[in-house]
Amino acid sequence: MPRDNNVTIRRATISDVPAIAVILRELGWFSHMKDEPQEKTEEQILRHLKLCNADESHLVLVAENKDKEVVGYSAMHWIPYLAMSGSEGYLSELFVRESLRGKGTGSALLEAVKKEAMERGCERLMLLNGRESLSYKKNYYKKLGWEERRDIANLIFSMTGPKKQTPFPKKLKRYVKRKVKEMF
Ligand SMILES: CC(C)(COP(=O)(O)OP(=O)(O)OC[C@H]1O[C@@H](n2cnc3c(N)ncnc32)[C@H](O)[C@@H]1OP(=O)(O)O)[C@@H](O)C(=O)NCCC(=O)NCCS
Repeated sequence: MPRDNNVTIRRATISDVPAIAVILRELGWFSHMKDEPQEKTEEQILRHLKLCNADESHLVLVAENKDKEVVGYSAMHWIPYLAMSGSEGYLSELFVRESLRGKGTGSALLEAVKKEAMERGCERLMLLNGRESLSYKKNYYKKLGWEERRDIANLIFSMTGPKKQTPFPKKLKRYVKRKVKEMF
């Protein structure tokens, strides 16, 4: 796995579950995590990480700093479309600890993902990026060569009954607005 100046990228193991839980809870994007104890979040991550590590259709990577602390992670799922000559890699998660953003960790994880995709003969990579998020507003992915699809809508079918679309949390909206102002 590649190494940049600050982080080492490696496959996630179950010992990384508590650190991943901290990253996700700190992010504040997932409402159910706000009301549950950390152990509950860890149970969910453990269950899903075990599934991801059970076969080669998924790849969860973590970025570790010099002090061996996990500072970010990515989750990739390789989808074999019958209609495509190579698989599509779906990047479902890419998160870096807030205090450590902007130091190349996200890009190092993306490079590792691209390297793996190349080795697998993958045809393209895909991700969803919230339009209200700082990464979207900062054109994070576009600057790295990702292209936004204009002709395809993203539809979901809720298996737990129709739900109101969760709006981007107001607190985060204010945070993004402030950060965008600071950065530009
Ligand atoms: C998007 C994210 C993964 C990027 O990781 P990172 O380690 O901060 O990114 P890098 O250091 O490799 O790249 C830095 C670039 O990202 C930009 N950036 C995007 N979002 C940022 C954020 N929330 N904080 C700081 N920098 C951010 C920086 O401005 C910088 O761009 P520049 O070089 O043009 O100035 C990370 O900022 C993050 O976890 N954000 C919150 C969650 C998120 O939006 N995830 C993507 C969901 S699809």
